[in-house]
Amino acid sequence: MARLEVERVSKHFGGVYALRDVSLYCESGEIVGLIGPNGAGKTTLLNVISAALPVDEGTVKLDGQRIDGTGPRNCALMGIGRTFQNIRLFGRLSVRQNIDVAFSSALTHRKAQLKGVTVDGLLAFMNLTASQHRRARELPYGQQRRLEIARALALAPDFLLLDEPAAGMNEAESEILIGSVRAVRDQSGCGIIVIDHDLRFIMTVCERINVMHMGGMIAHGPPEAIQKDPRVVEVYIGGRGRAQSRAKRPPAEAAAAIP
Ligand SMILES: Nc1ncnc2c1ncn2[C@@H]1O[C@H](COP(=O)(O)OP(=O)(O)O)[C@@H](O)[C@H]1O
Ligand SMILES: [Mg+2]
Repeated sequence: MARLEVERVSKHFGGVYALRDVSLYCESGEIVGLIGPNGAGKTTLLNVISAALPVDEGTVKLDGQRIDGTGPRNCALMGIGRTFQNIRLFGRLSVRQNIDVAFSSALTHRKAQLKGVTVDGLLAFMNLTASQHRRARELPYGQQRRLEIARALALAPDFLLLDEPAAGMNEAESEILIGSVRAVRDQSGCGIIVIDHDLRFIMTVCERINVMHMGGMIAHGPPEAIQKDPRVVEVYIGGRGRAQSRAKRPPAEAAAAIP
């Protein structure tokens, strides 16, 4: 059983506090949600956990060992896999090659081998076998999102961080994704922290939900309690938040920017 723990983390960019005294935890086998209006600090929190950004205050620990500030490569080797809000695939490479790239580091490859992770296994697991020889950029949007998850899983992570995996998906694609995320947890036993604006997706797939607003954590609990929490209703589900409950498909130019 592994445990990921964010303790009282703050992070500011100039005068903007993206994170203010934020704490959160996730254990093996849990699917934990992270929601909040745009600009709440969700992506910054994932960037801090995956050591893409150093913290200003506080700590991030994996099984009691500090990982904040160790750098994204080290963090990946330590067992934290992630996807990005804007898809970052190698667009000209095939689906299969995109996963192969993740196996290219000898260290991660060895870890994946020990856990029995293979390219064929990941392709099948994420329903991508039939598309394996297509270029990543030619895939429908939902499959690109699943390929990002497959690539993160090639590192055999103990924790998987997903930044808006359902953004821009239609209902059918989002339904498939719910099954995939659950299957990842059930079969690999890893802990998952998932950000999304699609509340139906989050409420269905998560056992616990953390709610952020303006850099702070304002609520934490099971989906039923979160839906009724007056602070959450005020800042997120009610009023301004309702307009954001289904994220828009990213602009065409963002998809075209895939190399
Ligand atoms: N690299 C950065 N430089 C300056 N400000 C940033 C940077 N990254 C995020 N921010 C600011 O931090 C706040 C939180 O952003 P972000 O974590 O992306 O929010 P969310 O993912 O919840 O929409 C926003 O005000 C955003 O403008
Ligand atoms: Mg974000």
